[in-house]
Amino acid sequence: MTDLYPVPPAWAARARVDAAKYDAMYAAARDDGEAFWAEQARARLDWTTPFTRVRDVSFDKQDFRIEWFGDGALNVSANCLDRHLAARGNEVAILWEGDNPNEQRRITYRQLHEMVCRMANVLRSYGVVKGDRVTIYLPMIPEAAVAMLACARIGAIHSVVFGGFSPDAIAGRIQDCDSKLVITADEGMRAGKAVPLKANVDEALKHCTSVETVLVIARTGTAVPMQAGRDVAYADAATSASISCASVPMSAEDPLFILYTSGSTGKPKGVLHTGGGYLLWAAMTHELVFDYRQGEVFWCTADVGWVTGHSYVVYGPLANGATVLMFEGVPNWPTTSRMWEIVDRHQVTTLFTAPTALRALMREGDGPVTRTSRKSLKLLGTVGEPINPEAWRWYHDVVGEGRCPIVDTWWQTETGGAMITPLPGAHALKPGSATRPFFGVAPEIVDAEGVVQHGAAEGNLVIADSWPGQMRTVYGDHARFFETYFTTYPGKYFTGDGARRDADGDYWITGRVDDVINVSGHRMGTAEIESALVLHHKVAEAAVVGMPHDLKGQGIYAYVTLNAGVEATPELRAELVKWVRHEIGPIATPDVIQFAPGLPKTRSGKIMRRILRKIAENQVDALGDTSTLADPGVVDDLVANRVHAA
Ligand code: WTA
Repeated sequence: MTDLYPVPPAWAARARVDAAKYDAMYAAARDDGEAFWAEQARARLDWTTPFTRVRDVSFDKQDFRIEWFGDGALNVSANCLDRHLAARGNEVAILWEGDNPNEQRRITYRQLHEMVCRMANVLRSYGVVKGDRVTIYLPMIPEAAVAMLACARIGAIHSVVFGGFSPDAIAGRIQDCDSKLVITADEGMRAGKAVPLKANVDEALKHCTSVETVLVIARTGTAVPMQAGRDVAYADAATSASISCASVPMSAEDPLFILYTSGSTGKPKGVLHTGGGYLLWAAMTHELVFDYRQGEVFWCTADVGWVTGHSYVVYGPLANGATVLMFEGVPNWPTTSRMWEIVDRHQVTTLFTAPTALRALMREGDGPVTRTSRKSLKLLGTVGEPINPEAWRWYHDVVGEGRCPIVDTWWQTETGGAMITPLPGAHALKPGSATRPFFGVAPEIVDAEGVVQHGAAEGNLVIADSWPGQMRTVYGDHARFFETYFTTYPGKYFTGDGARRDADGDYWITGRVDDVINVSGHRMGTAEIESALVLHHKVAEAAVVGMPHDLKGQGIYAYVTLNAGVEATPELRAELVKWVRHEIGPIATPDVIQFAPGLPKTRSGKIMRRILRKIAENQVDALGDTSTLADPGVVDDLVANRVHAA
């Protein structure tokens, strides 16, 4: 029996969407999507040119296209700033807390507007024009949001690269989209330690020819080398820049941003979102999933380097005129009460975080939580990976004292915003279930052949029709976009996730069914880690799979075959771990490296990952049929020498 947490009566009474309204709106979006989305887009966004076409979509190969509000025009930054000034100019847009708990900033909508206009003018003065790509590599400081909105204001396309990525990873992302300008900071701060952001950019730019200018924001104020003719101290450039800057009207289908994410093959792909549909999705889901009300303090703990930070630190909340809390540091520093102290200090009403953070904090016991008040909290949210019921209950019972519903939001970089999620006034909750589709989302469960399963079923999760927040292309590779998402199950968007639908119609996401692993809520392609490993001169071959991990959800298990004559030593193992961190970044740190004289391959040379996964999961009795292997003997060695995770 699963526990059921019914909608608290107070929520049913006051929420924007109760059960009856959910049913009515879901049916309206399904039965007359044109009218539903036209109304939402008109009510929620300000258009400089009203649209007359709502949607123009085909998932079929011949006339593949995804367009929403295609003949309308708007500016995303004006929607997030200018339109709030008259009524809410003096209200706080961003409440910032630094890594150091004594550092605080409060930025009103008026101030944010000025900061954005100023940076937009600086970008212009360095030649950035509509359609140019700008790479942003910043810590979690308000200037990260300013930089994104400044790009949006003048029609430049931003590509935010997470501050934990290595120089090589930055370089790959800059080269792929030919960025003209990079916005970075001298250093970032995390748990009291400085992160050398500018130095990483310098290293990356040794391999990039497209970048003409690097704007350096002073975060710590430390002196960093500045390359004449290329590097500019942002503070110097900003002093002479005007604080007014007209926003450029953009077609709804002009690109807003590129965000690189891992897939099952090849290099990370540049997921491209456009302004109109994406902003509508971010704003609408932010308001309804979190039942956001003016004056509340909304805290999404994600870094702006990930899609969650794009949609729920910046675009969704700011489009709604919300007050967002932005936090630079980590949840357990300087103490394991840090998150709850922040909640109290800033009277946070809604907390949106990742299961991995909850599992880590849960390990510290209830004390660090219960010594804080948390009375301001009304709603809790999770995202990024399946939440285990134990962590869900701890979040609900201890953090929320049983008062706060939990919205477990399933979505992806590709989807722009929440797709399957409870609405707190409408849906009874089950720990571990993302429950119901949001308006306009048509999930289906299909079997391996694509046959749609009805009723209670388990299989692969597809979305049968377009929604406004859907990604529009893979930057620079439209064929790859179609290939990746629309060919496995023709005519449908394939999510890469598995899911189960129970007898009540609630969805349970079971995890990735492709070669993507989810480490602490961060998406990693096993192919990327393998490529990094084989770049090392002592490595002949590598295969990477996920393994169960108590805190991270999944850990990284790498099988490595060394070149002939190379000795497998603990030192080499440590060297390879360091190598991967250097090639990709600390988030890709392998948890286990097993040296393997050979990998299990079919006679045609294909690595049988199924076997490697089972060994990593320590399920050696369930290896299945190994008779098709070219050399079944390698399996015995792999089993005998498997490494158990710490
Ligand atoms: C996983 C993050 C279960 C899923 C927004 C998806 C989840 C991938 C959930 C996307 C959830 C995200 N329950 N799994 N609530 N949310 N996922 O692109 O496997 O970084 O495909 O987007 O995270 O990760 P991404």
